[in-house]
Amino acid sequence: MKISQLTEAFGAVVSGVDLGNVDPEGVEEIREAFHKHQVLLFRDQEISMEQHIVFSKNFGPLEVHISKDSLHKDHEEILLVSNVKENGKYIGVENAGDSWHSDLSYMPEPSLGSLLYALEVSEVGGDTEWLNMYAAYDTLPQKTKERIEGLKARHSFNRYKNKRIGVPDQRKVGGKERYAKISPPDVFHPVARTHPETGRKALYVSPRFTLGILDGSDDEAQDLLDELIEHATQRDFVYHHSWKVGDLIMWDNRNTLHLACRGIPEGQIRHMHRTTISGDVPF
Ligand code: OGA
Ligand code: MN
Repeated sequence: MKISQLTEAFGAVVSGVDLGNVDPEGVEEIREAFHKHQVLLFRDQEISMEQHIVFSKNFGPLEVHISKDSLHKDHEEILLVSNVKENGKYIGVENAGDSWHSDLSYMPEPSLGSLLYALEVSEVGGDTEWLNMYAAYDTLPQKTKERIEGLKARHSFNRYKNKRIGVPDQRKVGGKERYAKISPPDVFHPVARTHPETGRKALYVSPRFTLGILDGSDDEAQDLLDELIEHATQRDFVYHHSWKVGDLIMWDNRNTLHLACRGIPEGQIRHMHRTTISGDVPF
């Protein structure tokens, strides 16, 4: 196994490994790299859904996503991130993650990490970006670090509650009712969370899921959230990925945000499988 840095900011590419067949020592090496680099890229993988699931389970139990209509019908642990249509309806989440976010931060126990595997990619568009949220925290002005110390933020899946990003037309499928039906109750998580493995602090807010701050009105909180989000989304903290078939990217949801860059021309297919590792209560 060879591990080399992806960018100066963070991330690593892991080569010389078949994710369909990793021995326990290999898993430990990958775990160590995961804690060090936050985002790991494995190229040229040819794995079945079972192998994807088995490898993912080395890092914890898997989630079954709340978007029940986007799960693979034979494997509920696989979320389809896909623009394939059957009978005029998307079979999966079409362009998941079109605002910066951390997966499942709207849950009481948000996801530890996710593994996204590219089975088909578009010729144009469909890139994904990740942000290093350790770097975002570390570089905050001291005054801001003090201000957010011990502060909690409100997170919600319900896009209709989110004035910052709103609800673009293509996300109105099922409307308010669908979001109201599948959204769990709002949750509160630390604005700066401590990574349970590394002990480092990361900024833990996102434009997609963070609506406000505990004990203040959501309106009052917007200036602080604006400041944090603007600071975090600097280009210096970004890894930009153009997918190739066979790429699998495993990322840590506790210290990164990610974003779907979109821009796929009509008629081009992008088809991916995601597993989502369960996490614990942020502190
Ligand atoms: C996800 C996600 C972004 C993309 O799968 O969690 O946000 O580019 N995907 O598909
Ligand atoms: Mn996502």
